Amino acid sequence: MASSSVVPSCVALALLLLVALAATANGDELSAGYYEKTCPNVQRVVRSVMASSVAAQPRMAPAVLRLFFHDCFINGCDASVLLEATPFSPSEKDVEPNASLTGYTVIDDIKSALEHDCPATVSCADVIALASRDAVALLGGPTWSVPLGRKDSRFAADPESTKKGLPSPHDNLGELVTMFSRLNLDARDMTALSGAHTVGMANCLHYSDRVYGTDRDEEIDPSFAQTMQQMCQGPSGKASFDVQTPMRFDNAYYRNLIARRGLLTSDQTLYGGGGLQDKLVEMYSTDGEAFARDFAKAMVKMGNVPPPKGMPVEVRLKCSVPNY
Ligand code: HEM
Repeated sequence: MASSSVVPSCVALALLLLVALAATANGDELSAGYYEKTCPNVQRVVRSVMASSVAAQPRMAPAVLRLFFHDCFINGCDASVLLEATPFSPSEKDVEPNASLTGYTVIDDIKSALEHDCPATVSCADVIALASRDAVALLGGPTWSVPLGRKDSRFAADPESTKKGLPSPHDNLGELVTMFSRLNLDARDMTALSGAHTVGMANCLHYSDRVYGTDRDEEIDPSFAQTMQQMCQGPSGKASFDVQTPMRFDNAYYRNLIARRGLLTSDQTLYGGGGLQDKLVEMYSTDGEAFARDFAKAMVKMGNVPPPKGMPVEVRLKCSVPNY
């Protein structure tokens, strides 16, 4: 009698353990169908709010794409960049180079629409991942399937780690390769992801070293340098990365690099050193499809970076504050 009651309880225990393990594995692994049952309209809602926001304010498309990059680079893709500072913990968003990020209102609008449709279900980190994919498509670029199931961190990174975690516009090729390799992104991923600088704008402060004064890079195309200097007038001077098609997600970025018209030092450093790196830029400059494919692949790879082990996570109800 005693032995027959032991057997079923062992089986029950093993089953419980299996269920527990499956839950852990599920929590870690992202999948495109993650919200199939819990929020079947998630993709449609994100796309529709993105479309109307970008129609009203086209600049929101590059802004949201940049948000995704800045989120994933600091503590993984966990929406930590969206958290507001509190008297007890500083934010990531107020720290350079995040201070110039915009697009938060679009993420909030998408999240509100989703909370209406399927409350407490879709993480803010997934909202950024989907919205940035849709931003690229709205700018005429490629689209891809986004693995989902990310969770939102309850804490932001400290200001020092935020500053150190993001590449600088003054970085050279070696520094960029090292920065990206920390997220398991190789030189090819880095070169494809940098192609995002085919859209949007940069503040003069970030590129003046390349076009002005004693620091002026001798390799820059002189007429481009002159135009960029003109864009630097006034404290809020800004220039488009790609002067010809500033709001079109194409492969012009690589053609600009070959023409020595890269805006940031960290852009131009991707070309001119010779070897495989130059070959890659040359290939993307002539083969827009290869760029689109590699960019989509690298966005998925960047989107897989998890929050640090042990970080408490949740699905935030409001993207700018933890739940309680
Ligand atoms: C390779 C290292 C990178 C550096 C050093 C860098 C740096 C910068 C800087 C300084 C700006 C201008 C910000 C301003 O002045 O307002 C900028 C803009 C932008 N970056 Fe990057 N970035 C890098 C990689 C990326 C990646 C990987 C993506 C996305 C996949 C990205 C997407 C963007 C976009 C879309 C803009 C334009 C934003 C707008 O117009 O609102 N960047 N980046």
